[in-house]
Amino acid sequence: FHVPKAVNEPVKTYAPGTPEREEVLLTYKELYNTKFDVPLYIGSEEIRTGKTASINPPHDHKHECGVYHLAEKKHVEQAIETALEARKKWAKLEWEQRAAVFLKAADLISGPYRQKMNAATMIGQSKTIFQAEIDSAAEICDFLRFNVEYMTELYNEQPNSSDGCWNRVEYRPLEGFVYAITPFNFTAIAGNLPSSAALMGNVAVWKPSDSQMLSAQVLMEVFKEAGVPDGVINMVMGDPEMITDTVLKSPDFAGIHYTGSTAVFKNIWAKIGNNIHTYKSYPRIVGETGGKDFIIAHPTSNPKQVATAITRGAFEFQGQKCSAASRVYLPKSLWPEIKDFLVEDVQSIKMGSPEDLTNFFTAVIHERSFDKLASYIDKAKKDDDAEIVVGGNYDKSVGYFVEPTVILAKDPHYTTMEEELFGPVVTIYVYEDDKWEETLHIVDNTSEYALTGAIFSGDRYEAAKATDILQNAAGNFYINDKPTGAVVGQQPFGGARGSGTNDKAGSKLNLMRWISPRLIKETF
Ligand code: SER
Repeated sequence: FHVPKAVNEPVKTYAPGTPEREEVLLTYKELYNTKFDVPLYIGSEEIRTGKTASINPPHDHKHECGVYHLAEKKHVEQAIETALEARKKWAKLEWEQRAAVFLKAADLISGPYRQKMNAATMIGQSKTIFQAEIDSAAEICDFLRFNVEYMTELYNEQPNSSDGCWNRVEYRPLEGFVYAITPFNFTAIAGNLPSSAALMGNVAVWKPSDSQMLSAQVLMEVFKEAGVPDGVINMVMGDPEMITDTVLKSPDFAGIHYTGSTAVFKNIWAKIGNNIHTYKSYPRIVGETGGKDFIIAHPTSNPKQVATAITRGAFEFQGQKCSAASRVYLPKSLWPEIKDFLVEDVQSIKMGSPEDLTNFFTAVIHERSFDKLASYIDKAKKDDDAEIVVGGNYDKSVGYFVEPTVILAKDPHYTTMEEELFGPVVTIYVYEDDKWEETLHIVDNTSEYALTGAIFSGDRYEAAKATDILQNAAGNFYINDKPTGAVVGQQPFGGARGSGTNDKAGSKLNLMRWISPRLIKETF
């Protein structure tokens, strides 16, 4: 099997004077003033149900960018039927034909659709240009291209044969359809979850987050222009519970590809269990859920490097990455120096609209998130065992702006050391230098999650000790780097424990979940 070798999509700089800077600003203005009318995409149809909800940029929530249409139960049933009809041809198509449409989708995003993808992500999800570029331009292209490469590696794996006997494996799609539920925080994940299953010959019913409607629509436009046949990826949105319940009742439900909250995933898993007698096959359950990601620094670590990792790891995209650092353990001997660097870094963060490309930080996704974050910040202001080191202000009059906030906790089990907040609040616990090993065990035992974590150490033996003690504490474990920003093709991403099934998005392991291989033994 031969396919073009996948390489990571280069990330553009948007420096003053570059053509991409002009282009993204123009596209942003244009989209900002467009009234979007996002339909359900079912087969060849764009369905406008008339029942709508409005789309408002989080950083300017009084501005309405348009509406999206809400599905009723009958539309979800129609999406399932349409997907199953499309499956008849799609599942039989040669792998090269399937690969070609997704490689073309990557080229469209890399080229003509790049700034539309970025601007839609900047407006709808309040990402800065840099955060949009690494997500809705680079990472999605990487997913699409590397998945094709991994698929061909997988297809090359064949069993041994012997005299008079020929064994071969056919990599067939699942029998039925795949349900993809995607989050607001990565346009790339929204694109990857339905498309990776589809690449392997499956058909999908896709429910994007209602906070990601603009970039979801652009993704659908790209898939269509790339030649993904009608019905292979169908997009429905509306009441999540109704959509999920309708999907999970279908006997043809063959698997779920999910990224989102832990509570919703566990609930879906339980429902699948309750419906198990309904299904023709055991459904594949693949999910990436919450995180309470850590940074721990050894007394031999470099204070400046640790402070930078905290600022970037905790506050890029307003801390709304499942990989974001949210609990930090620092040695007492380094704390004063790290604190000075950190306060300086955080105070230099420029907050505002993503349209101003010099901003590092914009608004959080919606009012629910804003209110939750504000209540934890208020609690920390009042509690005796916590104090605000920097930040702590918030204002939702124009957009849902929460300052990057650092809390210092006296207790390693203080609320914000344990609960997932999903926003720009990081909590630090300062440990006695001679309690390093004990602190590693606290890191391991504090959280139900195990997504990402980072340790900083100038001492190799201590780095090795941390790697060993924390072996189950993070699916992505970083030594001397921040715990965010995994690159497809380089750091396959996913966590265990309460963080998910650890099927590593953008890897062969993940693609294997979307096939049901058939072994054929032929004797001569
Ligand atoms: N893959 C992202 C990161 O590593 C999170 O989803 O930050």
